[in-house]
Amino acid sequence: MTNTAQYETVALDDGGDALVILDQTKLPNEVVFLRLTRTEDICRAIRTLQVRGAPAIGVAAACGLYLAAKSIDAPSRDAFFERFKAAKDALAASRPTAVNLFWALDRMERVASAHGDLPPARVKALLREEATRIMEEDAAVCRAIGEHGLGLLRDGDGILTHCNAGYLATTKYGTALAPVHIGLEKGYRFRVFVDETRPLLQGARLTAFELLSAGAETTLICDNMASQVMKNGWVQAVLVGCDRLAANGDACNKIGTSGVAILAKHYGIPFYVCLPTSTIDAEIATGDGIPIERRAPEEVTELWYEKRMAPAGVSVYNPAFDVTDHSLITGIVTERGVLYPPYGESVRRAARGEGGALK
Ligand code: MRU
Repeated sequence: MTNTAQYETVALDDGGDALVILDQTKLPNEVVFLRLTRTEDICRAIRTLQVRGAPAIGVAAACGLYLAAKSIDAPSRDAFFERFKAAKDALAASRPTAVNLFWALDRMERVASAHGDLPPARVKALLREEATRIMEEDAAVCRAIGEHGLGLLRDGDGILTHCNAGYLATTKYGTALAPVHIGLEKGYRFRVFVDETRPLLQGARLTAFELLSAGAETTLICDNMASQVMKNGWVQAVLVGCDRLAANGDACNKIGTSGVAILAKHYGIPFYVCLPTSTIDAEIATGDGIPIERRAPEEVTELWYEKRMAPAGVSVYNPAFDVTDHSLITGIVTERGVLYPPYGESVRRAARGEGGALK
């Protein structure tokens, strides 16, 4: 089995002509790379989770906006910016919850606006540089998250994780899985319990694939088995990712995460949320303000089953994310260090990139 670390999940091709993604809807059975150039195809890839995970979505959107700008042949500066803005709006509409999408698009727009008086060819070159920077920074940031997270763990620990916040969700290492990958590099042995993560099975299909291929001791469990596994004493820490962190430390992540946090509290197990500071949305005061994506009922009633398994006509509630209350979070692991409660001021300072807030 090829180590997932050898694949590039999301990248611009060498010539800067296309976005190349590892199609995550085909994993673990097929390793297929897609080469995308058109904005609508990149939007579809994000919407259908061919590329997924908050940081990877941000990188894909940044590359998508560069590729859109590259293809614009406009007679005037205003016409260029009109089409640039339309592409940005389309990419921003692809998924609502992960704030990295909007963060990356805003970064790209700031570069274009700041250099609007330069010839279009020069603006396009600067946009390519910015997209590349966003991608390269993500790898460095995830490495740092991994180093800080590893400091919270001991050799031999049992770790439980939900969804996929690993290599496949970022440019490199992941967020929640970065401490595991870096620990493996350094000779640690962890036993990782992977929630299958209904309904889209990011845990079973992606995390299990990624961790097995990296040589980690990996055990797949159904979501409803987490309590028993914790009760057995097999879990010393829970590590999860995040799609948007509110200013008070409420953490929005894959549906099911908040239940795991409640269980961890019950069993006295530390619960860590791992994220780049680009995932902080300091404009949103609490988790109640975070837009939660609702997805198609068929993901619950049909997908993965040979035959539809629920009666036709039943109503289905299919939120893709939930919010874990900040009171359940032991620590927030960022590239700049670990935040501990109380969160409000330290989260705001981390979002502003200020030093001294982190322990
Ligand atoms: O719907 P998905 O698969 O994009 O959801 C992904 C998650 O919830 C991840 O935990 C989160 O984006 C963090 S990825 C480093």
